Amino acid sequence: ARGMRRCEASLASDYTKASEVADLDWENLGFGIVQTDSMYIAKCGQDGKFSDGELVPFGPIALNPSSGVLNYGQGLFEGLKAYRKTDDSILLFRPEENALRMRTGAERMCMPAPTVEQFVDAVKQTVLANKRWVPPTGKGSLYIRPLLMGSGAVLGLAPAPEYTFIIFVSPVGNYFKEGLAPINLIVEDRFHRATPGGTGSVKTIGNYASVLMAQKIAKEKGYSDVLYLDAVHKKYLEEVSSCNIFVVKGNVISTPAVRGTILPGITRKSIIDVALSKDFQVEERLVSVDELLEADEVFCTGTAVVVSPVGSITYQGKRIEYAGNRGVGVVSRQLYTSLTSLQMGQAEDWLGWTVQL
Ligand code: COI
Repeated sequence: ARGMRRCEASLASDYTKASEVADLDWENLGFGIVQTDSMYIAKCGQDGKFSDGELVPFGPIALNPSSGVLNYGQGLFEGLKAYRKTDDSILLFRPEENALRMRTGAERMCMPAPTVEQFVDAVKQTVLANKRWVPPTGKGSLYIRPLLMGSGAVLGLAPAPEYTFIIFVSPVGNYFKEGLAPINLIVEDRFHRATPGGTGSVKTIGNYASVLMAQKIAKEKGYSDVLYLDAVHKKYLEEVSSCNIFVVKGNVISTPAVRGTILPGITRKSIIDVALSKDFQVEERLVSVDELLEADEVFCTGTAVVVSPVGSITYQGKRIEYAGNRGVGVVSRQLYTSLTSLQMGQAEDWLGWTVQL
């Protein structure tokens, strides 16, 4: 399911049967790029205002070799998902939260950003233009990837004079190759993801390049991913390369507080609210690595990973196992089911989180 693929069906016949889905092996979707029909692009010059934007065929973009994003990493991305309901309507999950987070990140990275309205409208247009790539109900989701980058030319270190906002999409299944089975993490105590005062709390592209090395080493040793500790005390949990972390002990669910070095995940925030509504006690605080020893369950949250149960965590050579590494913890399962049934429109959206297309 990984790697570039292109559906053979002719565009004309698909557009005449707009409700149909593309010809893809929907049973074996992973988290890899699948080339879809259209992408959205808008530009912004010195006036700080984005053009109306347009849908263009999905494909390569021309970038000045001297652009701010290529030379100095002036870029941000977002991630959200669209699900197809059985009645063929499409649901987005809290897209305005991604718009707001992009605006916060843009401020930190000295970039102008689209307004919330412009962002959400662009997401809707892109999803509708690629509707046939939204997987059939129960087979996965359409992952939506908004990008904001300094596309204007610079040489000295400075904010770029022009910015480009792009949205592309790809149908996806499970993020980890383990699927819904528990993942195995290793605690990283040599490399750090973020430092106080840095950019750990914004979704800037550099945060993801800098975790590749530890992730590569971990994968070579058979782990699914890396769990980072804080860079100052090397003692408190931060996040996994691509998701937030939660620790369950009895009725209490704890997660590292958002204090500038971890990403304020939209799934993280949603899971906190779902857990509170189910009468769990939720604590956002410093969570010490030692608490992993005492935990009943550990799980990760993120748009891509949704709620991923953790089967084991290895720290300083010691492996801690949860739920015997075979089963999925009851709390993780309950929260996964509650969240995904909201996202897929199978439970009443009493919080008004979904946007129907
Ligand atoms: C997401 O969960 O949407 C992310 O942005 C993480 C990414 C590394 C896939």
